[in-house]
Amino acid sequence: MKAARGSLLGIEHLKAEEISGLLGLARKMNPRKARPLLRGKRVLLLFYEASTRTRSSFEVAAQSLGAATTLVLSSGSSIEKGESLLDTAYTLRAVGADLIVVRHPNAGAPALMAAHLDIPVINAGDGMHEHPSQALLDAYTILRHKKTLKNLQVAIIGDIYHSRVARSAIHLLSKFGAKIALCGPSEFLPEVAATLAPGLRITRTAEDAVHGADVVMVLRVQKERLAGEKISLENYMSRYQMTLPRLRLAKKDALLMHPGPIIRGLELTWEVADCSQSMIVEEVHNGVPVRMAILAKALGKAS
Ligand code: NCD
Repeated sequence: MKAARGSLLGIEHLKAEEISGLLGLARKMNPRKARPLLRGKRVLLLFYEASTRTRSSFEVAAQSLGAATTLVLSSGSSIEKGESLLDTAYTLRAVGADLIVVRHPNAGAPALMAAHLDIPVINAGDGMHEHPSQALLDAYTILRHKKTLKNLQVAIIGDIYHSRVARSAIHLLSKFGAKIALCGPSEFLPEVAATLAPGLRITRTAEDAVHGADVVMVLRVQKERLAGEKISLENYMSRYQMTLPRLRLAKKDALLMHPGPIIRGLELTWEVADCSQSMIVEEVHNGVPVRMAILAKALGKAS
C-alpha cells in the first residue's frame, strides 16, 4: 500500500540509517528550548484507545515545536455514531490537519489512513502490530547508557503475543545486531514468534532469559486483548514476575525497561519498579525529544 509522504507506520520496513537519523535528530531536540520548526502547523491526535504517555508526549512534542494540537478521542466523537475510520480521517484533513497521530485497536488502521490521505500519518500504536515511537524512544534510552546496540543481550519478558511494543522493539533491535531472548508462557509467546526476526531465542523461564542480559524489558499482561483466553495470574507471577533476585541474574549494570503502564505486583515487583536500574521514568522523559524528531521529520522540517 502507498503511504502519504513522511508517514511513520512501523519499524519493520525502516532502514537502519533512517532509524539512526531519527535518533540523531532526537538528540538535538530540547523540549524546553526548541526552535518553533512547526509554527503554523496543526497536529491532530486521534486516539481510539486509552493512552497516557504516548498521547501526552506527542502533544507536548508538537507544542514544543510550535505546532497547534487538537485531540480527538473516539469516545464523545462521531466515531461513536458509526463514522468510519476513513471518513473520520477525511474530516480531520478538511478541518486543516497537517499531520495525524493515530492510535487504533486494529492493526493496519494507520496504514489505511496513510494510503488515502495526502498528509503524514504517525502510528501511535495499532492493535497488536507496531508502536514505532516507543521502539525509537527505547533505543534512544538504551543508547544513553550503552555504547552500541550491537551484540547487546536483551531479554523481553511477558505478554509478547499481544504487544506491539515488543514487535517494534524486536524489529529495531535486531536490525542493529542485538541478541534477543523472548520469554513467556506459550499463551503469550507462541513458538512462531521466533520467525519475527532472525536469531531470536525463545526461553520459557525468566531466569534463563535474564541471565547475563544487558537490558531486561518487562511487558504488561494485556488483559484487554485476551479474547476469552484464561490465564492463571498466580502461576504467571510465580514464573515470570520480575523480582530483584531474578534481575540480579542480569549484568550488574543491566537496564530495567518497561513501556508502561506498569502494574506493580503483577509483571514486576514494587522494588524492581523503583530500583536504581529502572529506566521506566527515563523512557517516558525521552519520549518527548524522540517524538519531536518524528514530527519534525514527518513534516520535512528536520534540517
Ligand atoms: C503500551 C501500548 O499501548 O502499546 N503502552 C505505551 O504506549 N507505552 C503498552 C501497554 O499498554 O501495555
